[in-house]
Amino acid sequence: MMGRMDKKDEAFITAVTEAIKQSRKYGDTSEATIRQLAEEAARQHKKPKAAIKAVRARLHSIMAPYLGDPDYDAMAQQLSEAFAAHDEARITQLCLQSLDAHLSTRERLPIMADFYRQIFAVTGQPQAVLDIACALNPLALRWMFPEAGDRYLVNGERLKFYAYDIHEPRINFINHYFQLEGLEPLARVQDVAMHFPQEQADVALFLKEMPRFTRNYGDLGRPLLQALNVRWLVISYPSISTHGGRNLTSRYRDFMHQLINGFNWPITELLFEGELVFVIEKGHRDQ
Ligand SMILES: C[S@@+](CC[C@H](N)C(=O)[O-])C[C@H]1O[C@@H](n2cnc3c(N)ncnc32)[C@H](O)[C@@H]1O
Repeated sequence: MMGRMDKKDEAFITAVTEAIKQSRKYGDTSEATIRQLAEEAARQHKKPKAAIKAVRARLHSIMAPYLGDPDYDAMAQQLSEAFAAHDEARITQLCLQSLDAHLSTRERLPIMADFYRQIFAVTGQPQAVLDIACALNPLALRWMFPEAGDRYLVNGERLKFYAYDIHEPRINFINHYFQLEGLEPLARVQDVAMHFPQEQADVALFLKEMPRFTRNYGDLGRPLLQALNVRWLVISYPSISTHGGRNLTSRYRDFMHQLINGFNWPITELLFEGELVFVIEKGHRDQ
């Protein structure tokens, strides 16, 4: 955090924040995130141009825009129409199309139903979930909760699905979808590196983001996991590198064990085609 800021610093930071907020590539990012990066850049650069360049470089790694996006407005509209028509096949198709638009969920499509079946076989069917750095993953709800009938009732209670990301249109889109599904709009624009999620839940998902998170924020992964108010942590890693197809399983297994070293939390490892998952029992939800 910055110490005392004089007016000149503040004007500099505001100018950098606004320039990024108006840019086509990163304008959809949460303003709080941009401002935080602008404050950090202001300490290292005297010229706004250099600071803007530095913030854009950080955002390239944090937002990973190259992983892809659907056309949010068009997709929201089509989902509204499909729900209004009670067209289940079309809803499924549109969810798949949304998931297919982002690399992380696209890679998971072939294993998706089995993925959640196996994870929830360990944790039990959750009634409250945190999906941290979610991207499009909440659109997989129908594969997480496939039971026919009122699929979002768990032990008589309506599912609470909290989702966190810093991409504003993505979060609006997810909330639109949640409401169509009859769920509360609990997705939020929140920088989880600045504010750890506080909500209580059975399961926290932190899927395929820990390596990037560590690159972007250093050693923040361990305190983040420690702070989460959940019984189960579900943390996953790509098992094969995107470039070059190297097997990353043993590297990430070592990394994961290191990250929670000393906590005495039991780990169950699940290996899927392309994704290595650790289901970690932190303790009781109300502990
Ligand atoms: C690789 S994608 C995550 C994929 C998703 N968890 C999955 O496996 O389907 C990374 C996502 O994390 C978000 N993100 C990155 N840093 C974040 C932060 N500090 N707080 C909240 N979200 C963040 C990005 O906007 C992006 O949507």
